[in-house]
Amino acid sequence: MTPEPAPPAAAKQPATEKAPPPTRVLSGIQPTGRFHWGNYFGAIRQYIELQTAGEAYYFIADLHALTTVREPARLRSLVHAAAVDLVALGLDPARATLFVQSDVPEVTELTWLLMTVCPMGLLERCHAYKDKKSRGLAADAGLFTYPVLMSADILAYDATVVPVGEDQVQHIEVCRDLAGTFNHLYGEVFTLPKPRLVESGARVPGTDGQKMSKSYENTIDVFEDLAAQKKKIMRITTDSRPLEEPKNPDDDHLFALYALVAPEADRLRMAELYRRGGFGYGEVKKALVEAAANFFAAARGRRAELEADPARIEAILADGAARARRQAGAVLARAKAACGLSRGVAAAAPRRPA
Ligand code: ADP
Ligand code: TRP
Repeated sequence: MTPEPAPPAAAKQPATEKAPPPTRVLSGIQPTGRFHWGNYFGAIRQYIELQTAGEAYYFIADLHALTTVREPARLRSLVHAAAVDLVALGLDPARATLFVQSDVPEVTELTWLLMTVCPMGLLERCHAYKDKKSRGLAADAGLFTYPVLMSADILAYDATVVPVGEDQVQHIEVCRDLAGTFNHLYGEVFTLPKPRLVESGARVPGTDGQKMSKSYENTIDVFEDLAAQKKKIMRITTDSRPLEEPKNPDDDHLFALYALVAPEADRLRMAELYRRGGFGYGEVKKALVEAAANFFAAARGRRAELEADPARIEAILADGAARARRQAGAVLARAKAACGLSRGVAAAAPRRPA
């Protein structure tokens, strides 16, 4: 008998080296307001780009939003709008699983399991809770345990990559901590995720030059009515340097906003105008109005189509929830079996006499 040919050297893997888990991207977006340019350029755009990096799960974090939005009709409408906006902005439901957090009850059950391995001190150190307390505001248990629900969100889908803004990195550390403790106690149940910090250079200024944020009421919303958007843009605060004086585009928030939406060639031309001087901010604002309308024109078109067909977005969310539940159900079953809660396991090896 001829011996089997040896496998090519490159295919040889040391027996101890486990293949890395496949890339699975996951992120959640709170529906606490309509999306503004800060949300889009600082977060959503990068999340959507990652839908091609591997399997992707994106959800609308309505359970988290309950810690701040207390009006049921408003919450419902924000969740719907968030789903429509995300698809209009390019999230492709054929590539990525899009769903609403509360449609997957397995996640809240998993939250409890994680809660039992979560030291109080770990949560007491979390910024969101600490900040609210230090401002003298009453914090509820929902806000306090927010990072545990977020951990369950991540672990329920065996996510490996979690794109987030800087403010959320600490929560991913909590998640890794809880997953590590659970695995240590009960065996390898959870996949440890890694945060993927979205470019911090993309800090978007608001109409007053501070960081764009709902809390500062300085936002330009992605899908706001064009006439209202124009008014806001024309009112962007600028300094009062005379028309002739050359200006540095790199420390001007109006230019920073223009640079986000203008095509490359126009951006370079505008930067040149700044350096040369002899023009007014009014001209830049007009150019910004036009560039913004063009930049989001296709998304606005898709949004209008989706709005005209509400059943379509509901079908996308229902399909997303079904896929998400299958995945979260498998992880929950694994976790319950590992810690001794599952009668599914008992059926295979009965604990009670028949
Ligand atoms: P807001 O400050 O308006 O309440 P959120 O905290 O809901 O915004 O923002 C959600 C995500 O959007 C953040 O985690 C961050 O990644 C991104 N983001 C928000 N505002 C900005 C901004 N001005 N520049 C860059 N990214 C931002
Ligand atoms: N807490 C996140 C935010 O405010 C939203 C979120 C909830 C999330 N669950 C998540 C993000 C899981 C990433 C992974 O932005």
